[in-house]
Amino acid sequence: MLHKAGKRPYSLLCYKRAGKRPYSLLCYKKYGSLFALYLGPHYTVVVNNHQHAREVLLQRGRDFAGRPSMVTTDLLTRGGKDIAFSDYSPLWKSHRRLVHNSFTLLGRERAVDSLCVELMSAGCRGFDPSPAVTRAVTNVVCQLLIQYNNGIVQTITRGGLVDIFPWMKVPSLTSIWVLRPVCMSDRSRLPYLDCVINEGMRIRPVSPVLIPHTAMTDSSIGGHSVSRGTRVLVNMWAIHHEPRHWDKPDLFNPDRFLDNQGQRVTPSYFLPFGAGPRVCVGESLARLELFLFLSSMLQRISFSLPEGAPPPNLQGRLGVVLQPLPYKVVVAPRAGLGGRIQL
Ligand code: HEM
Repeated sequence: MLHKAGKRPYSLLCYKRAGKRPYSLLCYKKYGSLFALYLGPHYTVVVNNHQHAREVLLQRGRDFAGRPSMVTTDLLTRGGKDIAFSDYSPLWKSHRRLVHNSFTLLGRERAVDSLCVELMSAGCRGFDPSPAVTRAVTNVVCQLLIQYNNGIVQTITRGGLVDIFPWMKVPSLTSIWVLRPVCMSDRSRLPYLDCVINEGMRIRPVSPVLIPHTAMTDSSIGGHSVSRGTRVLVNMWAIHHEPRHWDKPDLFNPDRFLDNQGQRVTPSYFLPFGAGPRVCVGESLARLELFLFLSSMLQRISFSLPEGAPPPNLQGRLGVVLQPLPYKVVVAPRAGLGGRIQL
């Protein structure tokens, strides 16, 4: 029997209004790392440690791959006709497969050049970079969706032309010596950037509490029985801030993803995209975008705080996802580029 937190139905909204972060309140020291509570009328199990999270997502992933039906998401998704909030079903499976295949085929679009130009055009005034970054990232995803139908034909044609007329490669080879644009194959040569990206996703998970899962069958977590229909909340914030696994968890320290030999490591308690049947379908695209956008921007641009400005507030705002609060930056071309941005 799981420990129940409180006798009365519990409302996370009350805590939100009180200005507290619901995901940090779910790490209830008093009730342990696995407990149950009523969220309104819904009996809900809260998972705060990685072993139990791996049980829910991976070892018994199929048992817990359901999604609850919720009024707001049903309205937004016309009764769960999307991927994220749709219950486990053949339709959900085929949607996932379709989306996943389109990403692997066409995930190499680049919108970073125009983003760098847009950022640089703001000059040395302090400005909020998030609208430009959001637009550029969204463009990549939209391009993928629009190009899905004719993408294969275009990809094959482009590749074929270079095979027939090899000199078509010359302009891109020349630019390599001027300022070679970063490409995905550079990832293995830039291990520290990968660690920085991982640390960013650890310290501020986009989804501090995963999208709720539902038990599709009677099952168990940590030896406790869980009956069919129970909602399960995996608290990724707690897992990514567990002091037994992460030394000084509130400190931004990318070195934690390197071992003593300087090799990259991915601990089993690092799960930014979830895992198992409901793992983020955009993981490969997101990793590709994060790497290409960050490496290309850092290669060309120096970012700093406007003079006298305080450091950005790292609290964030919790909506569907955890968003950073607005902040201002000053951009300048990287030293050695002579004010020129290579496109
Ligand atoms: C840094 C970027 C991202 C992070 C950290 C992230 C993380 C996550 C997490 C934690 C989940 C929930 C897993 C679960 O419920 O167990 C999820 C689900 C999902 N993500 Fe992402 N995500 C990212 C980017 C993206 C992108 C770019 C796309 C699509 C273009 C995407 C599409 C989805 C979808 C469709 C689901 C629902 C999957 C399902 O329920 O079957 N995500 N993501």
